[in-house]
Amino acid sequence: MRIKRTENSKAVGNEPPVVHIALKNSNQSFWFSGDRIQYEVSVKDKEDGNTHDGDIGEGKVKMNIDFVKEDVAELVDLNSVLKNEDVLLPVELSVGRYLLNNNDCNICHRMDTKLMGPSFDDIGKKYGTKPDGRGYLAGKIINGSVGIWGEEAMPPHPAITMKEAELIAGYLLQHRTGTTKSKPLKGTVVIDDMSKNDGRYILRASYLDRDNGAASPIETIEVRQLKSPKIGLVKADEISGIILKHHIGRKPTAGTAKGDGYFKFENIDLTRIDALEVEVNLAGMAENEKPEFKFFKKLV
Ligand code: HEC
Repeated sequence: MRIKRTENSKAVGNEPPVVHIALKNSNQSFWFSGDRIQYEVSVKDKEDGNTHDGDIGEGKVKMNIDFVKEDVAELVDLNSVLKNEDVLLPVELSVGRYLLNNNDCNICHRMDTKLMGPSFDDIGKKYGTKPDGRGYLAGKIINGSVGIWGEEAMPPHPAITMKEAELIAGYLLQHRTGTTKSKPLKGTVVIDDMSKNDGRYILRASYLDRDNGAASPIETIEVRQLKSPKIGLVKADEISGIILKHHIGRKPTAGTAKGDGYFKFENIDLTRIDALEVEVNLAGMAENEKPEFKFFKKLV
C-alpha cells in the first residue's frame, strides 16, 4: 500500500509527520564549487515521536541526493513533481514517470498487463539490455510504431520532445530496477566538480508514519533544491525594459535594454554571497551604448 500526502492532507486522528533537511555550511539557494555541505535530516511526528530521541529509527526514513541537469529540471515544476514521487527513485526517472503519467500512454499501456499495447514490464525486459534501448524507444514514442508486437499500431507523439521521450524511455527501461538505497540521515555533500555547473543538487527525505489503528498512515516528502550559481536572466522572477529574444529550438536570451530596465530575483538566500558577476555580450556595441548595472538588495 502506498499512501501519498497531498498538500494540507490531514487524516482524522493522525497528524502528518514533519520532515526537515537542515543544510549547514551552505547557502540555502545555491551550491558553490568547493562547498562541503553538511546535511541533517530530522523527523517529528505527533504520534510516533522523533529521530532525535531515536523513537523513529534511521531505517524508517528515506534519504536521497541527486544531481540533475538543468535541461531536465526545468521541464517540469520539479518541487511539486518530487513531492509525489518515491524519494529513492532518482530524479531523472521520477521526471520520466511523471511525463509518462501525464501523456496518453496509460490509455493503451499498463505496467504489468497487455492492453492494446504491450505492458511496460515486457518493454523493459525486451530492451533493458540493448545498448541504445533508450534512444531507440524515444524515437518510437515520438514517431509511433507498428509490427513489432503485433498488428496494432501506436500513433506518433509529435508534441513530445526528444529530451522528454528519452526521460520516459529511461523510466520504462529502469522502472523495476532504478530505485537506489537510502543514504545516511547525516552526511556531507562535496561540491567539487565545476563541469557539472548547469544543474541542481536535490536532497529529498521522506517518512511514512505508522498506521495508528484508527487512521491511515501519512507520508511527508521534503525536497530541497540547491541551484547552480549561474542563472540565466530568463529565469528572473520579473523583467522590465529588457527584451527577451526567442529563438526557435533554442533557449531565449536577453537582448538589449532600451533605457532603464531591471530584473528581479525573489527569495534568494544571500548568505555567504559577496559578489555578483554579470556576463554581458558587448559585441558590436558603441562605447556610449554599454550597459551599466546597479544592484539593490531588499531584505524581507
Ligand atoms: C492508441 C494506443 C497507444 C498509445 C496512446 C500509446 N501506445 Fe505505445 N504502443 C501501442 C501499441 C499498439 C504498440 C505496439 C506497436 C508495435 O507492435 O510496433 C506500442 C508500443 C510501444 C513501445 C514499444 C515500441 C517498440 O519498438 O517495441 C513503447 C516504448 C511505447 N509504446 C511507449 C508508449 C508511450 C511512452 C506512450 C505515451 C507517450 C504510448 N506508448 C502511447 C499503443 C499505444
